[in-house]
This record gives sequence, C-alpha cells and structure tokens, in this order.
Amino acid sequence: MTRVAILISGGGSNMVRLVESMTGDHPARPCLVISNEPAAGGLTKAAARGVPIATVDHRADPNRAAFEAALGAELDAARPDILALAGFMRILTEPFVRRWEGRMLNIHPSLLPKYPGLHTHARAIGAGDAEAGCTVHEVTADLDAGPILGQARVPVRPDDTPDTLAARVLVEEHRLYPAVLRRFATGDRSRLDLPYASAMD
Ligand code: GAR
Repeated sequence: MTRVAILISGGGSNMVRLVESMTGDHPARPCLVISNEPAAGGLTKAAARGVPIATVDHRADPNRAAFEAALGAELDAARPDILALAGFMRILTEPFVRRWEGRMLNIHPSLLPKYPGLHTHARAIGAGDAEAGCTVHEVTADLDAGPILGQARVPVRPDDTPDTLAARVLVEEHRLYPAVLRRFATGDRSRLDLPYASAMD
C-alpha cells in the first residue's frame, strides 16, 4: 500500500478530502499529517480521522535548514512514498525538494503558470480574468512551477471578491486533488482537466 504524508499549515479542508478519499480500493493510505503551525485546525481533524499527526513549529528552529531537518526526521519516521502539500505555507529549499522530487505534490489556487505565490484570487480579479481555478502540480525547486498534473476551472463573476472567488475555487480543489492523488498513486502522471460542474451556476 502506498503511504501518503500530508503537509498542512491551516484548516486542512483539502487534507480532509484527501484522507477521506483513501479508503476501499484506493491504492494509498494516509500515514501522517504534519503541520508547521501548532494551532493548525487541520491537526485535530486528522486526529479525529485516526491519522497520526505531528507538528514541527518553524518558529522553534533557528533557520530554514534546521526546520527542514526536523521536518525530514518526522517524515522519515512515517516512511511515506508520496508527500502531498495541502495549504502548506512554507517555501521548501532545493535540498529538501530534491530529496522528494517526483514524489511530492502541491495544490495551488490559480491556473498555473498564472499567479504563482500569494493573493492569487485578488490578482485574477484585478487582471479582469474571465476564469480562475486551481492546479495540482509536482513540486520542484522553482516555486509553483513543477509539471502540472491537473487543473480545474471556475468562472469569475462580475461581483466576485477574493473571498467569493476563493470559495468557488476551493470546491473545485476538493474535487481535483483527490482525483489527481489517486491517479498519481497508480503511477499515472498524465494531466487531468476537470470541467466546471457546479450545480449552483
Ligand atoms: C487552499 O486554497 C490551497 O490551494 C492554498 O491554501 C488553501 C488551504 O486551504 N494553498 C496555497 O495557497 C499554497 N501556496 P485548506 O487548508 O482548507 O486546504
């Protein structure tokens, strides 16, 4: 069985969807949910679902290398085959990324290569984009620039704020990430494009 560690920093709604997807005939199971934020709401959600949890507080370590060494030690103990970043808000350095390259996924709330980094929804609205969305990609040393494994698109509405657009995109994140992880766990890295299918629009 393929083992998946999920890295979070916040509420963990994507993490919950990933964990809940890994049952039955799914080829993978969650082996750890780890957060750099001790107060991350996702930790209690993971524990409630019976997934082992760990915290590596980035503020407790003197520098990025020490933080990543501590993170790496926790991950090594859990023996994951795949790392899934799900709202993990720390930038990882090249040595860490290289170690997991080809085995590490991330979900990003934009249609990459548009809007890497932060404030993706405000940037899409500010640019007058007609559509927005989310991307699951492999993590490489270049931020938000690894090979794209899947995308889901949503319309941008004329009255959208960053918050209303984020909520519409998040619904699609919850469809896209489990679907891509399942394919990835079977060795399928072909690109998945989900059509917009919300009943509300
Ligand atoms: C998600 O929208 C995810 O795409 C985004 O953070 C949110 C986490 O929500 N990730 C990034 O911005 C990564 N740079 P969640 O904790 O409820 O899954």
